[in-house]
Amino acid sequence: MKLEAEALKTRRIVLGVTGGIAAYKSAILVRRLKDFGFDVRVVMTEGALAFITPLTFQALSGNPVHTALLDPEAEAGMGHIELARWADLLLIAPASCDTLAKFANGLADDLLSTLYLATKAPVWVAPAMNQQMWAAKSTQRNLTTLVQDGVHVVMPEAGEQACGDVGLGRLAEPEDIAQWVNDFFAQAEREISEKFGLLAGQHVVITAGPTRELIDPVRYISNHSTGKMGFAIAEACYAAGADVTLISGPVSLDTPNGVRRIKVQSAQEMLKHSMQLVENGTDVFIATAAVADYRVAQVAEHKIKKAGDELQVALVKNPDIVATIAQLDKRPFTVGFAAETQNVEDYAQGKLTAKKLDMIACNDVSRADIGFASDENAMVVFFAEQYQMQKQELEKASKHEIAKQLVEAIAKALDKHVPVS
Ligand code: C5P
Repeated sequence: MKLEAEALKTRRIVLGVTGGIAAYKSAILVRRLKDFGFDVRVVMTEGALAFITPLTFQALSGNPVHTALLDPEAEAGMGHIELARWADLLLIAPASCDTLAKFANGLADDLLSTLYLATKAPVWVAPAMNQQMWAAKSTQRNLTTLVQDGVHVVMPEAGEQACGDVGLGRLAEPEDIAQWVNDFFAQAEREISEKFGLLAGQHVVITAGPTRELIDPVRYISNHSTGKMGFAIAEACYAAGADVTLISGPVSLDTPNGVRRIKVQSAQEMLKHSMQLVENGTDVFIATAAVADYRVAQVAEHKIKKAGDELQVALVKNPDIVATIAQLDKRPFTVGFAAETQNVEDYAQGKLTAKKLDMIACNDVSRADIGFASDENAMVVFFAEQYQMQKQELEKASKHEIAKQLVEAIAKALDKHVPVS
């Protein structure tokens, strides 16, 4: 099968459109596939040409449309064998009864059936036909053969049909087909990164977001952290093949795909979960959370009533989570963050030593264009002395790009990490 690391970068789909009223839905499918970042080339059978024009698909896909097996002009542009090799995935939607029969029996009398035989790419078919034709023994027999041959089938849906019948045979929704195809690529991508990714085999724990320290049942102390950097790092670690757990304070971000998330409120809760995970085996601990330095000494049991002109609330220091982890026996590779407004590099290096970190990434939050709520960041990374690694400057870029570069820096240093026992 062709879906390998290189193919995943190109995300090329040959979409075969066959003759059936559902062919109009293929136009929407092309749009959705393009939204997912796929490069789409459309192949139309003669039957499809009766329902929709090649011009529609050419405009939507941004690529020439292929219609004939032996068209000298098309063959000069991209021959059918070349097209078969170009595809990372061959998707037929709608797949007519006739096309399923051709595929199941090895016929190669038009461009699409020839491509099916000539490609190494995984093949997906989304059948659409009259409910009686779908139920026909020969159709079901052909489908069984195709499934046995490794073809993925997107089952048709039940409902009212263009011909007036009611039953199974309507093309699955284009949005769903595009989503399944994208998930298929994502799954293949994950399998590859789990084997070859920079953090393959590593369990990474990341703290993110603010903490919330209760004053009474309705009030709390917190900060403006949005969690964006930590979530972007979680995503980048997962993409690099790691098994990722994100311990997050209250933020309004969706959990990145594939990442395990533990939702916490206070610093003490964040520490408890961090300790548990590290004790159970963590290779890399990344502390991006903006942990409240202090919490209220005595949380009021009931809402504090408005009284005099002043209110005194005693605060006590919160535990330093990253420093606590870094001091453990068998500590993971520990990464801290420093957000400073002045003497950024000096303070960061001070923290690297004081908290016994392996690596620290610091940024200047006095710069209005980066930091807290921004989608961009710029950082300087320092490593503990024993790594003998130069400081690394990460130029202003999206938090996703910075996260990728941080993962590369972690992976490089991780090679030299010796857990203290
Ligand atoms: O000391 P400071 O708060 O500037 O240190 C920042 C680094 O320490 C960050 O990595 C932050 O997540 C971590 N930290 C922590 N627990 C605290 C305070 C900070 O883990 N109580």
